[in-house]
Amino acid sequence: MITTLITGGTDGIGKATARKLLTEGWKVVIIGRNQARCETTVSELKTATKNNEISAIVADLSILSDVKKAVEKFKSENKRLDFLLLNANAIANKRIVTKEGFEQNFALGYLSRVLMIKSLENVLKNTSNSQILSVIGLDTKRLDFDDLTIENKFSGGKGLGRWQWSMNVFTREFNEKSSIPLNLYMPGLVKTKILANEPQPMRAFVKLMNIIVGISVEKSAENIFNVLNEIVINKKKCTCYSWKKERSFPKVEMKSDDQKKLWELTDNLLKAYL
Ligand SMILES: NC(=O)c1ccc[n+]([C@@H]2O[C@H](COP(=O)([O-])OP(=O)(O)OC[C@H]3O[C@@H](n4cnc5c(N)ncnc54)[C@H](OP(=O)(O)O)[C@@H]3O)[C@@H](O)[C@H]2O)c1
Repeated sequence: MITTLITGGTDGIGKATARKLLTEGWKVVIIGRNQARCETTVSELKTATKNNEISAIVADLSILSDVKKAVEKFKSENKRLDFLLLNANAIANKRIVTKEGFEQNFALGYLSRVLMIKSLENVLKNTSNSQILSVIGLDTKRLDFDDLTIENKFSGGKGLGRWQWSMNVFTREFNEKSSIPLNLYMPGLVKTKILANEPQPMRAFVKLMNIIVGISVEKSAENIFNVLNEIVINKKKCTCYSWKKERSFPKVEMKSDDQKKLWELTDNLLKAYL
């Protein structure tokens, strides 16, 4: 049975995608940070889709030891992985350094995704036509390699921009090194709670834009499903999709050795968890 792992499957785009894939007869494992929300989601989606092939793993993905445990649990229960949807995110607008010493946005948005990719790579390699899709926004800011925890002039926007920059740059290098396609997915403005706590006036602006151009989570899940099929049919890798269309891979501000430097830094930061 086609097997999917979705991070952040208890709400928004992740939950709607889980529902869509269950409707298509796929098996879905979601990861969520809250046990009660995980249980409610599993039971709601079973009833709504009449597909019982859904289960949940509880993990706070901003904590890398939790990510490691979640992956181990997934691997102990599943021998294949067709589709890994790296989707979980929550924007930390206050500077938080996790108990493992990482800036919260960087840990959740970037390090946890790369840790999942690296520790699931073998299972993905053993499943034909497997793929990874990383859900990401437009905003990128070059990582300051000398200030990883953003001690200097922190803002949530900086945290978000830096992990998205890192994901963009990592995606280039990973696709050069691995046979597993890793693609980026930009959902557009989707009516979810993720931007509801943005500082004003951004919050009011997002609310207005959601009314004008925001799409539903169901529409977003349809788009993701179409993109997944397109990637398999056309064997795409290192591609970026926006809504349901391929777009140019986003250009980011980069110094000549940034790609190599980020790869080495990431290996170093993750070695304790691999
Ligand atoms: N909505 C948009 O317009 C938009 C635009 C561009 C990119 N994106 C990206 O799309 C993805 C999905 O966002 P969304 O809009 O669907 O947001 P959402 O409705 O807030 O859903 C986010 C999901 O991630 C989970 N999550 C958050 N922090 C977590 C953690 N520490 N550990 C485990 N799970 C965690 C949430 O769990 P809870 O249920 O516990 O909250 C929820 O299931 C994100 O990567 C976001 O950056 C969204």
